[in-house]
Amino acid sequence: QHPAKPLFPLVFIGPMAAGKTRIGRLVARTLDVPFVDTDARIVADHGAIKEIFEQHGEEHFRALEREVVAQALTEKAVVSLGGGAVLDPDTQADLARCSVVYLSVSAQAVRRRLGGGKRPLLRGGIADWKRIYNQRRPTYEALASIRFDTSHRPLDAIADAVVTWT
Ligand code: S3P
Repeated sequence: QHPAKPLFPLVFIGPMAAGKTRIGRLVARTLDVPFVDTDARIVADHGAIKEIFEQHGEEHFRALEREVVAQALTEKAVVSLGGGAVLDPDTQADLARCSVVYLSVSAQAVRRRLGGGKRPLLRGGIADWKRIYNQRRPTYEALASIRFDTSHRPLDAIADAVVTWT
């Protein structure tokens, strides 16, 4: 079903390693609008996320994130949010006015994707991922216009399904 809201910004939410960045980029290319990854914007403006967490703490990271996300949600673009951005009440209010695609994923599929060690919240590996996802799952569900599970299909097939939905 088509969203009963303007199509843009078209926003991807979901847990870490669900494929938000890669699917968002593919969808933006197909729809011919800019792609904004809020984590990448934070890195460009403020440096590596791991360093921000280590040097200034998560609260500081969330404050930077809130600003970057608020700006991104005013753009005619496809926007992929960091997994924890949806916890902010102002961001939640903004998202109520956006088309929101929730990308869900199983722990099994994530186990294959995780790597690189750039995510400070995942020092405990998959157990941390599960705990954090379980806390946030109701928020993702409440904000979603539609959900796609990314566990069993290649990311380009999911991107096609999202485009078909729009
Ligand atoms: C976070 C997710 C990360 C990044 C930061 C914190 C989270 O984004 O914003 O490491 O709290 O879930 P991805 O969802 O793109 O990994």
